[in-house]
Amino acid sequence: MEYRQLGYSGLKVPALSFGVATFGGGTEFFKAWGQTDVDEARRLVDICLDAGVNLFDTANVYSVGLSEEVLGKAIAGKRNQLLISTKATFKMGDGPNDLGSSRFHLIQQLEGSLKRLGTDYVDIYHMHGFDATTPVEETLETLDTFVRSGKVRYIAASNFSGWHLQKSLSVSERYGWARYVGHQVYYSLVGREYEWELMPQALDQKIGALVWSPLGWGRLTGKIRRGQPLPEQSRLHKTAENGPPVPDELLYNVVDTLDAVAKETGKTIPQVALNWLLQRPTVSTIILGARNEEQLKQNLAAAGWNLTAEQVAKLDAASDVTPIYPYWHQRQFTERNPVPVPLAK
Ligand SMILES: NC(=O)c1ccc[n+]([C@@H]2O[C@H](COP(=O)([O-])OP(=O)(O)OC[C@H]3O[C@@H](n4cnc5c(N)ncnc54)[C@H](OP(=O)(O)O)[C@@H]3O)[C@@H](O)[C@H]2O)c1
Repeated sequence: MEYRQLGYSGLKVPALSFGVATFGGGTEFFKAWGQTDVDEARRLVDICLDAGVNLFDTANVYSVGLSEEVLGKAIAGKRNQLLISTKATFKMGDGPNDLGSSRFHLIQQLEGSLKRLGTDYVDIYHMHGFDATTPVEETLETLDTFVRSGKVRYIAASNFSGWHLQKSLSVSERYGWARYVGHQVYYSLVGREYEWELMPQALDQKIGALVWSPLGWGRLTGKIRRGQPLPEQSRLHKTAENGPPVPDELLYNVVDTLDAVAKETGKTIPQVALNWLLQRPTVSTIILGARNEEQLKQNLAAAGWNLTAEQVAKLDAASDVTPIYPYWHQRQFTERNPVPVPLAK
């Protein structure tokens, strides 16, 4: 496995990591993703570790804590061989302080995550989304205390706008506090908005991307095609509305091109889609999703080889969309404001 630097930090993360939102299946929503129990989780963790994939991503909200609990049991005795990433900010209860990035909520949530995971530290602690009602100073001072106490090794943002992240970086710098070194972002061949604002920012600010839903929320699997009904087993039946919106025409054009490149390379559609992401700037790790062992093994084989420049260009062209303002405007003045990846011809 290739290991990459996580932004402006000394931490090396595997180019492929494993997201365990499929562990537990404790709510209707998460049941549609997967229902991996502790025994199966142990097997999946071992398959990952054998492949050098030593980073596991979860969150307090995944199955309301059950994903963390299953992961904690599955890694028992192996804590020092691996890295754990978890998150807080989203709603964990009905009380007014059961969500957000306040000192009150974060202290409560970190303690809960550590207990469920059966560990005394988290390697990467994410703010799952931006909380605009808590002072950024309060959030970052709390996170800095976590880092200084040894309960958290590195901090990261997720789903932030450019200005959310920039303001946070500036506050950390002003006070000499721990700084976000990673940004967990949605990025896929059917969702390239990350390239417009957040990727140039990541290059400029040395932020490593941890990519979520690399198959476009379970769409770039080869099972979803023009003129065909959804397969019987797909999380999309119950969760399509909650994930990234993807226009049908864009999806089918991308799948047609993935099909052609898959034939040329002898790889599968998910492997080609994941390999395309591995070659993009700023990507520190791609967080794989897999319902079972077979999907996981297939996805792990997305690394260790490279699409050719021509194949990447074909995929770039098929997935290109006109960006919203001001990005379409900025594309007319690239001499002094270069785009991070070549524009499709
Ligand atoms: N920070 C955030 O806000 C955020 C949001 C979402 C996810 N995440 C993280 O990212 C991780 C991955 O997200 P994701 O599960 O949405 O990723 P994804 O790669 O877009 O989708 C994975 C799903 O695609 C299908 N699949 C995967 N590999 C396949 C294969 N080889 N063949 C056929 N089908 C395959 C499976 O669903 P079916 O079996 O149902 O087809 C699988 O659950 C999560 O576990 C979580 O850790 C973070």
